[in-house]
Amino acid sequence: MNLKKEAALKAISFIKPRQLVGLGAGSTIAFIVELLSEQVKAGLELNVLTSSFSTNQLLLQKGFSVLPVADVEEIDIYFDGCDQVDHHLNALKSGGGIHTKEKLLASMATQFILAGDESKYVAQFTTACPLVIEFLPEGLRYVPATIQQLFADAKMVMRMSDKKDGAVITDNGNYLLDVWFGSWPELSQLNPMMKSITGVVETSLFYNLAHKAIIAGNDGVKIIVKQA
Ligand code: 5RP
Repeated sequence: MNLKKEAALKAISFIKPRQLVGLGAGSTIAFIVELLSEQVKAGLELNVLTSSFSTNQLLLQKGFSVLPVADVEEIDIYFDGCDQVDHHLNALKSGGGIHTKEKLLASMATQFILAGDESKYVAQFTTACPLVIEFLPEGLRYVPATIQQLFADAKMVMRMSDKKDGAVITDNGNYLLDVWFGSWPELSQLNPMMKSITGVVETSLFYNLAHKAIIAGNDGVKIIVKQA
């Protein structure tokens, strides 16, 4: 049994005909694309858009027309994977380096649903995953120095490319800083503090944004719903 595919199967059951469906990045989302492509062949009408270059390529391969994000104000339902999600549905989306666009689509969505296998679901964030900061290249010295003043125990590493010399450049032309905490600061304060630093564009903490998480485990698929 492939747990990510199980999560994807449950995810598509939330989609209604003619909805505008947003898709994030990763292997669980790739399963959603496969399943949706079968349903579209069987007659389902949908519009799609994505935050991810790789998902966009996959959608095009499967024959979807993909709407430009800039042409859209609201999305009916947005699915994305994550690195960790806690019981309050706060999520870390640190691995892909595309969290700024992912967060934009999540914010535009009436329903934002995380999907993945049970390895993603944690009581509290562990320190195995960094917080990622996208920031303007001109802030190369200023942004890390200011973060260090705010969080003395944080260790920071610029995300470097292993395919060329130099830093990873995001889709928006910026740099990425992996911030490793010895223990997680109060989550409710983290985005306001980071985003008060001039030059910071966005963080990979999705605080209080998701409406549901679909978590597939060996005992079945759980739907965790945001408490009012
Ligand atoms: C990257 C993400 C991805 O969505 C996540 O890593 C995808 O996970 P998976 O491949 O297990 O579905 O948040 O930052």
